[in-house]
Amino acid sequence: MSPAQTVPHTVLGLETSCDETAAAVVRLDGETVEVLSSVVGSQIAEHAPYGGVVPEIAARAHVESIDAIAAAALKEAGLGYGDLTGVAATAGPGLVGGVMVGLSFGKAVALARGLPLVAVNHLEGHAVSARLGAHLPYPFLLLLVSGGHCQLLAVDGVGACRRLGSTIDDAAGEAFDKIAKTLGLPYPGGPALEKLAEGGDPERFPLPRMLLGRKDCDFSFSGLKTAAARIAEGLESEADRRDLAAAVQEAIARQLAEKSDRAMQAYAAGHPGEGLRFVVAGGVAANRAVRARLQAAAATRGFSFAAPPLAYCTDNAAMIALAGAERLALGMTDPLDAAARPRWPLDATAAAANPTHVPGRKGAKA
Ligand code: KG4
Ligand code: ZN
Repeated sequence: MSPAQTVPHTVLGLETSCDETAAAVVRLDGETVEVLSSVVGSQIAEHAPYGGVVPEIAARAHVESIDAIAAAALKEAGLGYGDLTGVAATAGPGLVGGVMVGLSFGKAVALARGLPLVAVNHLEGHAVSARLGAHLPYPFLLLLVSGGHCQLLAVDGVGACRRLGSTIDDAAGEAFDKIAKTLGLPYPGGPALEKLAEGGDPERFPLPRMLLGRKDCDFSFSGLKTAAARIAEGLESEADRRDLAAAVQEAIARQLAEKSDRAMQAYAAGHPGEGLRFVVAGGVAANRAVRARLQAAAATRGFSFAAPPLAYCTDNAAMIALAGAERLALGMTDPLDAAARPRWPLDATAAAANPTHVPGRKGAKA
């Protein structure tokens, strides 16, 4: 299904599933997407002393700031609640205390203003995020890589995803974060590790290549994490740390590219004669080494390559507003008693048949 609507939809999006309180207004008119505002309030300072996200602190911080952030998003857009045609809130997966804050706020706006509500799957938000920056038609092959998720999905249209592969242990962003911690870097580790890796020699420390012999599209990062932690113990200089950071970044990027390459081959076989598109989204898509490897892999297989603008790689509400607007355009709305869901796989059939997801720092990974 493609969002082939005629009337413009102006949607307030709300995102509270992890450690960002975010609100945005997006207008979808036909195939034209316009981000009218996007406000992200980060809680990094509140969680940093604990080296990761503390669910109770996150939920409380969302309660304290959601009003002001939503008001700021409307102000930045130059609109009032009366100008909206719908409200979209993340309803999962994620830390459920936080999810409930944004979803309840969204329900209250919908009820008070008589607006339709869309309960958005956070992963669907990431899936559409590249559509915020450039024209990107369905269908496409998606690598979704963030702190809580690592999966390859065939995205056939709005709400229509088939999972081709998933992580059997950590998500890629989680691997970045955990290894960064062993290198003494602050939370969140991914961007800090990328910075440290600059100028490092990725060849100096050999790291294991996980699941290389397997023919599927699943990922694994736990062996890499253990190996890196062992090497980190013996490091002496800043140059040593730089080289290990570069090796880790390269190893993660390489695995993401190898598994994406496999998925591209399978996907291309199922879409003969079609324009082939490969998209990467999620926080880890902000990493330049990862992007470069994936772009090269896509070029080799004859796929076009797209990634969201950097601001829409990590969690934001513009992607939630767009996912909501696309659903709204197809008449896909949700009742006011829609539930907050800690787990909510995009491809429920695949998740039930092969439950690779395990609870992680940011909730379920599938
Ligand atoms: O999408 P996101 O904001 O939250 C989730 O839905 O999980 O992703 C956050 C993750 C964190 O693990 C963070 O370390 C990682 O994305 N990340 C990066 C970079 N920027 C964010 N990892 C590697 N390099 C980066 N530049
Ligand atoms: Zn996310």
